[in-house]
Amino acid sequence: MAIHLCTHPLALHLLTGLRAVETDPQHFRPLARRLTTLLALEATRDLPITAISLTTPLELMAGQVLAQGLVVIPILRAGLAMLEPFLELFPDVSVGYIGLERDHATAVAASYYCKLPQVTGKTTLVVDPMLATGGSANHAIALVKEAGAKDVRLVCVVAAPEGVAAVNEAHPDVPIYAAALDRELNDKKYICPGLGDFGDRLYGTL
Ligand code: PRP
Ligand code: URA
Repeated sequence: MAIHLCTHPLALHLLTGLRAVETDPQHFRPLARRLTTLLALEATRDLPITAISLTTPLELMAGQVLAQGLVVIPILRAGLAMLEPFLELFPDVSVGYIGLERDHATAVAASYYCKLPQVTGKTTLVVDPMLATGGSANHAIALVKEAGAKDVRLVCVVAAPEGVAAVNEAHPDVPIYAAALDRELNDKKYICPGLGDFGDRLYGTL
């Protein structure tokens, strides 16, 4: 199963806090932000760099800068929890939004919003904390590819084997970065053991 798992001890610690049922929205939000910082570093580890020359206070030297722009696309609404760390790490990132919501009865995601920046020639990170059936991720990835994105990466917090398989099959070129690969989906298509409904826990809409 093609997935990159972040095994940093701090990531495991933060994820445990997110999973715990007693964690309320005011504690859930900062845990999600801190964990996303680690995931963002993992997902951008191989970004291309360009050599430049610069002068330190002492002498001339060769330095490195990021070679190209970055695009981050949170899937509304839960993906918004993961946006801020990308803005802090990469202040010149372009941001797009894709609104998708799963039908509670069928678990099929329908699109209600899509606003994308220029994606051609830029690494594009689709961010959504939960990869369950993979329907939402596949829908979003298809939209960004239609817009011209070539180097597309998916960053999530918890993935289910079913979702990873679905994304691997539909988009074998898209690497998946996550903090955990959980056991399975239940009959309502929730990830087990999971952490529940991420959006509801984030915004207190339980
Ligand atoms: C959740 C989650 C993903 C989706 C994953 O969103 O944030 O977008 O479910 O499920 P899938 O892999 O089966 O498509 P939800 O539809 O609950 O909307 P929300 O973010 O507005 O809460
Ligand atoms: N969406 C969530 O928020 N949680 C799940 O377990 C599955 C989909």
